[in-house]
Amino acid sequence: MKILVTGGTGYIGSHTCVELLDNGYEVVIIDNLSNSKRDVVDKIEKITNKKVTFYEGDCCDKNILTKIFKENEISAVIHFAGYKAVGESVLNPLKYYRNNLDSSITLLEVMNDFGVKKIVFSSSATVYGKPDKLPIKEDFPLSTTNPYGTTKLMIENILRDLYKSDNEWSIAILRYFNPIGAHKSGLIGENPNDIPNNLMPYIVKVATGQLECVNVFGNDYDTKDGTGVRDYIHVVDLAKGHIKAIEKIIKSSKVDAYNLGTGNGYSVLEIINTFKKVNNVDFKYKIVDRRPGDIDACYADPSYAKKELDWSALYGIEDMCKDSYNFVQKNK
Ligand code: NAD
Ligand code: UD1
Repeated sequence: MKILVTGGTGYIGSHTCVELLDNGYEVVIIDNLSNSKRDVVDKIEKITNKKVTFYEGDCCDKNILTKIFKENEISAVIHFAGYKAVGESVLNPLKYYRNNLDSSITLLEVMNDFGVKKIVFSSSATVYGKPDKLPIKEDFPLSTTNPYGTTKLMIENILRDLYKSDNEWSIAILRYFNPIGAHKSGLIGENPNDIPNNLMPYIVKVATGQLECVNVFGNDYDTKDGTGVRDYIHVVDLAKGHIKAIEKIIKSSKVDAYNLGTGNGYSVLEIINTFKKVNNVDFKYKIVDRRPGDIDACYADPSYAKKELDWSALYGIEDMCKDSYNFVQKNK
């Protein structure tokens, strides 16, 4: 069975391609390489010892998508392609609305033209806004605090409308919590070129001497040690969730959303201390002001994904810290 993976050379996409190939699926990738490199395809092939069909192109381009569907008998699509930097989306909202919405609508139109009505969509815990209580369940109210999050919520709504209009669609919306870690091989992972916004890529740059000191954004939150608490999930666990979601949408036609998180919350200081311990490294951190828009704590109730998808995360925080470091050390 052939799966089209948009954004398949990106961080989560590449790990998902590995899991798809390891589970006997054929993989076709479309990526415009705006935030990834062509050599990721070779690395996916090296890890799995299987071939991938790669198209360099943009999901906003109907012609290339049509060509892909003509040339390949696609059974389902996993849609990762999109921009994801929250801060940039506040500064340049039109860039985010254009790319994230246009790529999704164009993809859905072409899928509809070819009668391929099965899709897994990458959403985010950001659609829960500032939740009133924890852990977060899928039926909590949805709201957003930045344009990036709004694009995710808008696409979720588009998908729900699409299903309402045509019950042949089968749609899994996956709401990721905080993916970190990397494949054990050290061949694929996340290593942004510029100064990272997210915690783990920042820690790794400090631990490898590329940046001076980790800035801890506030220690006066209402959490165990005052620093922000999040549900970090190993990217390989997350990737495996997509295989379960594909199995689900192949079996049944509906639209549904699933939290992909571990259900455990770790504070910034717990992450820093675990990272130092398991990797036997030392580095500096300092407490600075809160980052505007951040919330105290955010973690999933993952029981619906367990019940409906038969999926739960297996890796712990120590593996996540080890694998993140291993990848960047090998790819400095
Ligand atoms: P990523 O940037 O590593 O991967 C996205 C890929 O999509 C990149 O390879 C990029 O080149 C490609 N791309 C972007 N726009 C495109 C377009 N118009 N046409 C073709 N390719 C395009 O990001 P990621 O971390 O792997 O995230 C994948 C998806 O998951 C994104 O939709 C993101 O919003 C969502 N998500 C990510 C996180 C996270 O923390 N990483 C959390 C929640 C949701
Ligand atoms: C970020 C995104 C969110 C997305 C999520 C997925 C922002 C504002 N939000 O969430 O939309 O769904 O990633 O992974 O970018 N921290 C520091 N120092 C740093 C960086 C972060 O102390 O240098 C703290 C933050 O205050 C937070 C925690 O570490 O408490 C995690 O931050 P981050 O990795 O940026 O993720 P989120 O903000 O949870």
